[in-house]
Amino acid sequence: MTLARFVDPLPIPPLAQPVGERTHAAYPGRRLPYYRMEMRAFRTPLHRDLPPTPQWGYQGMSPGPTLQAQRGEPLLVEWINALPQEHFLPIDHSIHGAEREKPAVRTVAHVHGARVPADSDGYPEDWFTPGHSALYHYPNGQDAATLWYHDHAMGITRLNLYAGLFGAYVMRDPHEQALGLPDGDCDLPLALCDRLVGKDGKLYYPVSDDPEAPWVSECNGNAILCNGKLFPYLEVEPRRYRLRLMNVANTRFFNLTLSNGQPLVQVASDQGLLAAPLPRKQVTLYPAERADVVVDFAGLDGKDIELRQQGDAILQFRVRDRGRRDTAAMPTALNTIERTPPATAVRDRVLTLGEMDDAGGRPTMMMLGGKHWSAPITEDPRQDSVEIWSLVNLTGDVHPVHLHLVRFQVLERRPFDLFAWNATRTLKYTGPAQPPPPEEMGWKDTVRADPGMVTRIITRFEGEPGRYVWHCHLLEHEDNEMMRPFLLRARA
Ligand code: C2O
Ligand code: CU
Repeated sequence: MTLARFVDPLPIPPLAQPVGERTHAAYPGRRLPYYRMEMRAFRTPLHRDLPPTPQWGYQGMSPGPTLQAQRGEPLLVEWINALPQEHFLPIDHSIHGAEREKPAVRTVAHVHGARVPADSDGYPEDWFTPGHSALYHYPNGQDAATLWYHDHAMGITRLNLYAGLFGAYVMRDPHEQALGLPDGDCDLPLALCDRLVGKDGKLYYPVSDDPEAPWVSECNGNAILCNGKLFPYLEVEPRRYRLRLMNVANTRFFNLTLSNGQPLVQVASDQGLLAAPLPRKQVTLYPAERADVVVDFAGLDGKDIELRQQGDAILQFRVRDRGRRDTAAMPTALNTIERTPPATAVRDRVLTLGEMDDAGGRPTMMMLGGKHWSAPITEDPRQDSVEIWSLVNLTGDVHPVHLHLVRFQVLERRPFDLFAWNATRTLKYTGPAQPPPPEEMGWKDTVRADPGMVTRIITRFEGEPGRYVWHCHLLEHEDNEMMRPFLLRARA
């Protein structure tokens, strides 16, 4: 399929607007902005020359409207399931949580990277069906960062995101606002994903050759979408822009570059500002990772520049002077990031990322700590305690591992002897520990666990006690057992 490039303008999701104010028991005496986010089926073309694509989206669009939050100002969102009763993508009923007796269409919203009490975090089993809704509250007591919201329903998250259920959630705070980074219409979320798109415009989701168990371990498309369009263009002025790059794909990772060789100046990672701006020739993002970059188009008036994925165009910037100037200089320092000393950890949990052959003929299922989702909780940190999690990757693939509720730091990656592990369950290192690269020296909520490596992260478990989850963010893995609950126990 050869489609003309750069014929559709890049859609910029509108800012979500509150529909009113409400009180909430968790915030006595306050009136909070109240948003309604309705999940609806809709059709829109992914490209000028394709028929409209049936999709699902919050407020009938994908990405959904951008939720904007200010630090210290809580908000309420009523997530409403107004979807049809039937799914349009292939459900695998042999997967735990998606059995035949379960309703086909189930949704529950999660704000990825938000520190949210358990009752509003979107626990995968807290799903609800068409005609129902859930009122969630977001305290917003955390640093400015590019967060995102998406569906999290047990056993069908991969299909619900693939259908279009995601959007940006932008946290702001006064510290960041004082830095003079590009904002307003020069601050744009760019949600990147791939889809398998037919000539009929429809979304196809890959299936195995077993109709009783259609699950596949990865999902790769033939089209890369940026804010829901294929090869869009964006007119920009010769000044600086902040681009909030978000990998919202099921499986694909991105290696992003600019066609003119100009650096992407990274200012933030998953959980907010880096210590200092970091010019990068290429930005790699695994599923669910974010990077905020500043791109300066000054002096490029009249030029067309592409954002590329491994050499292929995703988005074209057309630099056109409209007479507006950008006078602020890039700050040399952005943030103070205190490294959490490993000695403050009360515990080092060794957790494997493994795969298991299923007797039922399914190729493999992935597991965390060798345990199924339904096994009793094993990760049970105490509130405010510091823990190290050592992620031992026993597979041949990268798994981007995400913990709900907390932000963490990457300590190191270290190669280990897989045979020694398999024989005696002991960690024998085969080389020195590798410190994280500069782009991983800020706060993260999703970390690449590389094959053959022990990836160690450190986190303080701040937040309200309750039950949360951690999982691989390859959505096919997450849906098929590569997800575990964790329990935050109240401080002693
Ligand atoms: Cu991006 Cu558990 O989620
Ligand atoms: Cu995985």
